[in-house]
Amino acid sequence: MSGKVTSISGATVCVDFPDLKIGDRISVGVNRLTGEVVRLDGSVATVQVFEENRGLGIGEPVTTAKGPLTVHLGPGLLGGIFDGLQRPLPLLQESSGDFITGGQNPFPLDCTRSWDFRSAHKAGDKLLAGETFGKVREGHIQHHLLSPHAGILEQLNTGELQLEHPAAILEGNQPLHGWHSWPVRNARPYRRKLPPTTPLITGQRCLDFLFPLLKGGVAIVPGGFGTGKTVLEQTIAKFADVDVVVYVGCGERGNEMAGLLDEFAELEDPRSKRPLMERTIIVANTSNMPVAARESSIFTAVTMAEYYRDMGLDVLFLADSLSRWAEALREISAALEEMPGEDGYPTYLGSRLSGFIERAGAVETLSGTQGSLSMILAVSPPGGDFSEPVTQACLRVAGALYMLDSQLAHRRHFPAINWNQSFSLYSDTAMAHFSELHEEWAKLQARCRDLLQREDALREVAEVVGMEGLQDGDRLLMRTAEKIRLDFLCQNSFTEDAYATPQSTIEHIVTLVAEHDRLATALDDGALLDDLLKEAADASL
Ligand SMILES: Nc1ncnc2c1ncn2[C@@H]1O[C@H](COP(=O)(O)OP(=O)(O)O)[C@@H](O)[C@H]1O
Ligand SMILES: [Mg+2]
Repeated sequence: MSGKVTSISGATVCVDFPDLKIGDRISVGVNRLTGEVVRLDGSVATVQVFEENRGLGIGEPVTTAKGPLTVHLGPGLLGGIFDGLQRPLPLLQESSGDFITGGQNPFPLDCTRSWDFRSAHKAGDKLLAGETFGKVREGHIQHHLLSPHAGILEQLNTGELQLEHPAAILEGNQPLHGWHSWPVRNARPYRRKLPPTTPLITGQRCLDFLFPLLKGGVAIVPGGFGTGKTVLEQTIAKFADVDVVVYVGCGERGNEMAGLLDEFAELEDPRSKRPLMERTIIVANTSNMPVAARESSIFTAVTMAEYYRDMGLDVLFLADSLSRWAEALREISAALEEMPGEDGYPTYLGSRLSGFIERAGAVETLSGTQGSLSMILAVSPPGGDFSEPVTQACLRVAGALYMLDSQLAHRRHFPAINWNQSFSLYSDTAMAHFSELHEEWAKLQARCRDLLQREDALREVAEVVGMEGLQDGDRLLMRTAEKIRLDFLCQNSFTEDAYATPQSTIEHIVTLVAEHDRLATALDDGALLDDLLKEAADASL
């Protein structure tokens, strides 16, 4: 069956084509550009084209793939760099040079690569949908081959496996491949959600100590221009203690993405000592790539993330930035002449966003193992106005907020996380783990917060009376709080200090607080602060 293009308005194209469904994937025009049906009116379908459609004409043919937009899931995704439609960018570059031409749909997985396929199953075994039927080694992980549907195993082709050949045969002569497709807009199933319990160590002292994240949790990072969103996301992508990282560059500058790729190709994973890229999947839809594919890119990426979660792994999904994604949604919605909601965003912004964010979580997988999908999502509110709809919609579903502060960034206090406005609802749960590392973790955290708050109050006083007008005890407090801010909370991503273990984090704060207490006791005993500080300075010479 086929149809024809009847009208074109930017990336929105109407086609005359009966029997389509909302969400169907469509090939548009002689160049076979990929599009998705977004509206139906009788036999006229409105299609959002994901690729540059310059040169497309009225009357050009349209065909349907008879199904929704999908991604291909199988071994070999790790280390991959894809666009928002899961097209491997290195392959596209080989075939069309630096500027991608439309209509290319190379298979995202490498079919020439051989995998050593092992299975604990045997012919006659019954497979449930989503169950593991064998494993191959992919870099540092055991990649589970998951059966997309139930069936009875008739034959297993263990040994050397190439993805074009079936890995097994199910009853009824049905081939079972080492890969399968999955519609990007459907969350992958699991047995049940579990409450997140294990901290996700980011290596950032400020986060791990004050605002911890859990595996399966969601944090949002709102910040104005230049406050360090990209650097923070990329630093966490390097050091987070997870098995797989999926990084989506969504509508941000292309050169930042290029920088990330160069860096990740060279760096090694501090824990497994293997190339960092081997545990990373990158989905790039930079600001110069088509807007409609940007909208689909986060769904493409999150589906790949869920796939690795389903193997019982800990996966971290990072997006930079959701605001650019929401802008794409707004642009598409405006082209469809939908009724605009707040700030021109479509009225379904909130539900689309939470539908996506709710794909995070710790789960018991269909194979009975435990996996987690955590998210850290950057938001770049225009003009740094946090009351705008995207930040607010994210806040409703996130468990942690890392608020980046332009004033801190201006003073080059990085990461510019505002300790008064940020929060983590995971703090209490994380504490159970951290208190095993140091029994006073919670107490020290409270101390640290208190010192920072009292410093704020004292600073106002100091502005009036001057530092000399403060009592020794207050001056000591200001000194300790300053040390906490500058030595402890600041962490330069471009030095050795970029990553801190929880052990070193807690030792660091213990040292700072102990010094404070020692000096405070001496003051109580009648010593003078200036003498004590001079003594300390002489001692350290
Ligand atoms: N953790 C950090 N350590 C050192 N410098 C940082 C850090 N975070 C941000 N910066 C500095 O701030 C600049 C802007 O950061 P960036 O992440 O690009 O901001 P945003 O993505 O919010 O616009 C960086 O180029 C870098 O110089
Ligand atoms: Mg940025």
